[in-house]
Amino acid sequence: MRELKPNVFAVGAIDWDRRLFDELIPLPDGTTYNAYLIKGSEKTALLDTVDPAKRDVLIDNLIAAGADKIDYIIAHHGEQDHSGCIGDILLLHPEAKVVTNPMCKGMLIDLLELEDDRFITVEDGEQLSLGDKTLRFIYTPWVHWPETISTYLIEDKIFFPCDFFGAHLASSDLFVTDEHLVLESAKRYYAEIMMPFRLPIRKNLEKIKNLPIDMIAPSHGPVYQDPKFIIDAYKSWISDDVKNEVVIAYISMHESIRRMVNHFVSALMERGITVKQFNLTVTDIGELAMSLVDAATLVIGSPTMLAKAHPKVAYAAILASALKPKTKFVSVIGSYGWGGIMIKQLTDLVSNLRVETIEPVMAKGCPKDDDFKALERLADEILKRHKSLKIA
Ligand code: FEO
Repeated sequence: MRELKPNVFAVGAIDWDRRLFDELIPLPDGTTYNAYLIKGSEKTALLDTVDPAKRDVLIDNLIAAGADKIDYIIAHHGEQDHSGCIGDILLLHPEAKVVTNPMCKGMLIDLLELEDDRFITVEDGEQLSLGDKTLRFIYTPWVHWPETISTYLIEDKIFFPCDFFGAHLASSDLFVTDEHLVLESAKRYYAEIMMPFRLPIRKNLEKIKNLPIDMIAPSHGPVYQDPKFIIDAYKSWISDDVKNEVVIAYISMHESIRRMVNHFVSALMERGITVKQFNLTVTDIGELAMSLVDAATLVIGSPTMLAKAHPKVAYAAILASALKPKTKFVSVIGSYGWGGIMIKQLTDLVSNLRVETIEPVMAKGCPKDDDFKALERLADEILKRHKSLKIA
């Protein structure tokens, strides 16, 4: 059985084949559902369970780890990839209690129909003794649901933050062995799941900053033996700092937008601006989300279709709006045949972002000299705005 430290076992499951989460988020490298068993001298606690699809793996691992009796199931988070097998464990261990906060308890009753008397609720900072090991519960809301709590194992200095600091990465390695690979996966995970909660995450980082942490054991991906590595990455992602980068997300139906994008990309490159370009017909939306973690500017490109943006472009705008990146500027490159309300539609779709809108460029029919000149002026304006942020 794999041990993080003596009597702290990894009992979760690796899901090598999963390619989609929430029926939305691509998982190119699969994922893991990490669960941990802590055997104290008097009591035993299971920290989270696994996705119901991997129930048998969890149960086999618990048997292999010698979990004859489980006293506590610590539920950090209501989402079913971690809570989905709590009912199964309660059936196998009728003496066990589910330990969580009142909000998560309510969610687990709603989602899993667990009985009220199976719960013990804990307050922020409360401790639970397992004998020679002590769990301290720390409320860490909005990573990424409001109820989420973390556990700190005092004697071993292990922090168990559930989804927080996680990475969708199926790996046979218990610990981080390839920092570059894990950083990419953790950044994708942050972009797809955590980015909308940048400000609450800032508060949670502040809350744990004085905690002596030897190891961070999240609920997805490898365990960090160098906590500073992932904490520093998070500090960078949640900061207000942006990079001299433009993300272009576009669709082209009859080459007008593609020609405009090509010209515009060259103009940005000539001005020393990094460009990340996504043709939404073929792009992985996770890559698009990752690019939005740091970029100063988003430019959306679309032909007019039934008076509005192409539906795939509208979808990307809705996604960007939901992910709430720290992007500072937005503009639109479009084409139209006879009219439409695309600019207003796209501007409305991203209206919740705290961005300044830069004058769009719309071509009637195929782009002509005046349109290409307008694209160069748009590149000039973006450079000027980036310089105002002192990033160009
Ligand atoms: Fe990994 Fe929010 O569940």
